[in-house]
Amino acid sequence: MIRQAGATVAQLIGSTAREIAEIGVRDGQHAWGLFCAFPSAHLTLVDHYRAYSEPGFGWPQELQDKYYVDTFHRFFRDRHRVTFMTRTSEQSAALFPEEFFDFVYVDAGHDYISAQADLKLWWPKIRRGGFLGGHDYDLVWPEVIQAVNEFVDYYKLSLSAANCDWLVQKS
Ligand SMILES: C[S@@+](CC[C@H](N)C(=O)[O-])C[C@H]1O[C@@H](n2cnc3c(N)ncnc32)[C@H](O)[C@@H]1O
Repeated sequence: MIRQAGATVAQLIGSTAREIAEIGVRDGQHAWGLFCAFPSAHLTLVDHYRAYSEPGFGWPQELQDKYYVDTFHRFFRDRHRVTFMTRTSEQSAALFPEEFFDFVYVDAGHDYISAQADLKLWWPKIRRGGFLGGHDYDLVWPEVIQAVNEFVDYYKLSLSAANCDWLVQKS
């Protein structure tokens, strides 16, 4: 099911959006929600699918392999509208020109360094009038909140936050 940020952007520009991306895909459940909510858009899926851990959680390589296969099958029939980037967020961002995306949804690393890096990497890739948002703007993940708040203050953006999602628009 699609979350708050995607639902809001879909309401605003869903029929006209051409390029959207999710950073941090796992088994593609939320990505599928985005795919359905943006029927005219091409979807870029960025996930390194390598073993990794977050405080209190860990995903071994076998599980990451399974998530990749599940996601690949989920989108196989619609593969003409989807690009898989099985690379890091940083490696992937480097492959896109500035102002390429209508909407990027960030849900990868939840530590401060990763969250901050993702905002810096993907903000320039958003077109004017486009949106950047993400998941886990929630007290369970205080470092995501810190990174998002600093980013919003630095760029003097207007932040919407609801149901653990956050969203900003580029003017
Ligand atoms: C919370 S899960 C994503 C969940 C997904 N957005 C959903 O809601 O269905 C985080 C994912 O980010 C990926 N990830 C973490 N750090 C990453 C990085 N630096 N580059 C690419 N992917 C990363 C992990 O492999 C993991 O699958």
